[in-house]
Amino acid sequence: MNQNIEGKVIVITGASSGLGEAAAKHLAHLGAAVVLGARRTDRIEKLANEIQESGGKALAIATDVTQRDQVKKLVDSAVEKFGRVDVILNNAGIMPLSPMDRLNVDEWDQMVDVNIKGVLNGIAAVLPHMKNQKSGHIINTSSVAGHKIFSGSAVYSATKFAVRALSEGLRMEVKPYNIRTTIVSPGAVKTELQDHISEADIQQANREYVGAVGLNPDSFANLVAFVISQPEELDINEIIFRPTSQEL
Ligand SMILES: NC(=O)c1ccc[n+]([C@@H]2O[C@H](COP(=O)([O-])OP(=O)(O)OC[C@H]3O[C@@H](n4cnc5c(N)ncnc54)[C@H](OP(=O)(O)O)[C@@H]3O)[C@@H](O)[C@H]2O)c1
Repeated sequence: MNQNIEGKVIVITGASSGLGEAAAKHLAHLGAAVVLGARRTDRIEKLANEIQESGGKALAIATDVTQRDQVKKLVDSAVEKFGRVDVILNNAGIMPLSPMDRLNVDEWDQMVDVNIKGVLNGIAAVLPHMKNQKSGHIINTSSVAGHKIFSGSAVYSATKFAVRALSEGLRMEVKPYNIRTTIVSPGAVKTELQDHISEADIQQANREYVGAVGLNPDSFANLVAFVISQPEELDINEIIFRPTSQEL
């Protein structure tokens, strides 16, 4: 599985918990140099230290993905330290679900800023490097909610549909530069994602559901490694995965 992963420089946003943390550990174990971005620097520094102590390569850079200059610094730091950037996993995201009539308008703004603009900031940061290299791989985390809408998911789903739309446009446009693009759309996975749902009833229902059926974050890490590990001429553009028991 470490074929075409060993030695690669992989930038991961949202690496401080859940899916991003699991992907960072797994890819580092497979021989990649991982560059970790998130706001909780204590977490990403601890993870970087653990990876280094077990013989891997890692760098932690404080990053708020809503700030374009910070995402540029994250990617430029990867290039400075390791010489190139082979993959970005635009994974940072938030999911404060609520029905629209509760008018949690600040949360709508935050979802647009993190889930859409954060991904765009990641793309903008890597494209100049990948164009120069004539190689690269941009992996964007969408969701099953980026394919399906349910009551309470309108804004979150809109942001995750947007991730798929911009990823597909990007896929076509970066052909001249030999850049691969992948959308990964997870179903329910046990992470900290529910912690930021401010509506108590929605949080409880979501926690119960994910607690009952949710997959381990290693499921995501394994699939990300799988798409990266393919030969360079093979571009896996989209993966949807769910717990076998998930109906939505
Ligand atoms: N778990 C699921 O069931 C599921 C299903 C479908 C899709 N997803 C998607 O998977 C991705 C990862 O979520 P998760 O499930 O792993 O949840 P999580 O455990 O809450 O992790 C979210 C990550 O995003 C980061 N983040 C949030 N806001 C940020 C910001 N402004 N700047 C930088 N980083 C930020 C967090 O880091 P800091 O707070 O330290 O900044 C954290 O590392 C998200 O895009 C989510 O929408 C998850």
